[in-house]
Amino acid sequence: MAQAFDVVVIGAGPAGYISAIRAAQLGLATACVEEWRNPAGEPKLGGTCLNVGCIPSKALLESSEQYEHTLTGLGDHGVTVTGAKMDVAKMLARKEAVVTKMTKGIETLFRKNKIAWLKGHGRFVGRAGAGWQIEVGGGGASEVVEARAVVIATGSKARHLQGVPVDNEIVCDNVGALAFPAVPQRLGVIGAGVIGLELGSVWRRLGAQVTLLEALPSFLAAADESVAKEAWKLFTKKQGLDIRLGVKIGKVEATKKGVRVDYELDGKAEKLDCDRLVVSVGRVPNTDGLGAEAVGLKIDARGFVEVDDHCRSNLPNVYAIGDVVRGPMLAHKGEEEGVMVAELIAGQKAHVNLETIPWVIYTSPEIAWVGKTEQQLKSDGTPYRVGQFPFSINGRALGHGDTSGFVKMLAHQRTDEILGVHIINTHASELIAEAVVAMEFRAASEDIARIVHAHPSLSEVMHEAALAVDKRALNM
Ligand code: FAD
Ligand code: NAI
Repeated sequence: MAQAFDVVVIGAGPAGYISAIRAAQLGLATACVEEWRNPAGEPKLGGTCLNVGCIPSKALLESSEQYEHTLTGLGDHGVTVTGAKMDVAKMLARKEAVVTKMTKGIETLFRKNKIAWLKGHGRFVGRAGAGWQIEVGGGGASEVVEARAVVIATGSKARHLQGVPVDNEIVCDNVGALAFPAVPQRLGVIGAGVIGLELGSVWRRLGAQVTLLEALPSFLAAADESVAKEAWKLFTKKQGLDIRLGVKIGKVEATKKGVRVDYELDGKAEKLDCDRLVVSVGRVPNTDGLGAEAVGLKIDARGFVEVDDHCRSNLPNVYAIGDVVRGPMLAHKGEEEGVMVAELIAGQKAHVNLETIPWVIYTSPEIAWVGKTEQQLKSDGTPYRVGQFPFSINGRALGHGDTSGFVKMLAHQRTDEILGVHIINTHASELIAEAVVAMEFRAASEDIARIVHAHPSLSEVMHEAALAVDKRALNM
């Protein structure tokens, strides 16, 4: 007799494992199918985010930031350091320890919530009454389990370019770029998006000469233009990232010392020689081998599972969440969808508001935003007012010795409802939470302006930006 569950979740990344936990909390018999194995061949939970994404990249960002700060950021505080060195092997071991702690933590949560971890590749093979049959296989014996409801949370993988084979030694995607055994002297990056900027920053801080080749003519096109302009200035002029916009990548070939990238810029043929190359040109959903065709699951032209606002697919009791469906490819977006679908399966009402998903780029300074950019409001024809306030005159920022950036708030001209908040600052990832709460409660800029913010704190800049919407900033 096949094992039968109320819910089978396919994929144990942040979308899938959170969905499984919420389903189990609601009393549903839950299993989670996961095929991930680490380089030692051990099965692992946590998906891209924990194993080769958010968590390891933030560990390396922190280590490299500490190193650079030790070299250049302490003199003003009267601290002299000599002989500071970076031990790359130790940095990588720390990163792995952080990853292991997190992935083991999910194993504990699965045990605590009595979630069955089915190790292997999951795919639809047919119907089972009103539910579905899922085969768990790959590498040896396979079994078929039955599920009243299925949650597809199979995530995404790095998009590769035709003619640019990734070996994750010399030419790498995120997997290899998180594990260089030594600092490359010259690092090339194709794609100046989120991964390119974050991982480019890591290796630049450790001493690599980093060149990013970006196809688009504008920098950070998804961010607010004034933030992108400020970031461009800081990343290129101050930090020395060499970012070339509007390039067309040509041949990429191995050389004796590494790799050569031929590209075109302003109609001229150029070449970049580097020791290692990172290809970070976006990600593609994992729907291959899911058995979609066996059951008629609709997949769109770009490979995403088609879903409605509640993550329901075209099949009854089959949901899809996280990177494998439309919307931003962000861990927290997938997690909230995971909670929502578990609650829907349990018969509750639930929703996720995609309009208030925060974005963070963990460069230094960090960039964070929620809601609309000024250019979007302009093109939508929405009347708005802007309030902007710099960190350079904030007492806490001066005390930190890091005064770069600003908070920019956009509010509707008539209703004053906050439509977007954009931050560039070292602590932007934490500061954005206030804006997300405000927007979720449909607050006006005046609401933030009238709320007491602790002094001295960086959050006072949010307060002043809200006051500035009404042209009444107090400290400027
Ligand atoms: P995934 O995390 O990709 O997990 C999907 C899981 O499904 C995988 O474990 C996979 O093995 C498994 N799977 C796939 N198919 C099958 C199958 N048929 N059977 C069994 N198992 C299967 N996002 C942020 O919000 N913040 C960040 O700071 C951040 N940093 C990032 C840094 C990097 C370098 C990268 C690459 C990504 C980063 N992201 C970040 C994005 C984030 O990792 C993804 O949005 C998130 O992991 C998506 O979660 P998911 O559960 O949908 O998919
Ligand atoms: P991305 O979409 O952020 O950036 C890809 C960049 O590559 C774009 O600027 C694009 O114009 C450029 N590009 C595409 N094709 C190209 C080509 N042929 N030549 C040159 N440039 C080209 O994708 P990225 O950086 O790969 O990251 C994938 C996703 O992972 C992100 O979109 C995000 O959803 C997630 N992520 C989130 C992070 C965070 O939240 N802090 C960190 C890292 C990744």
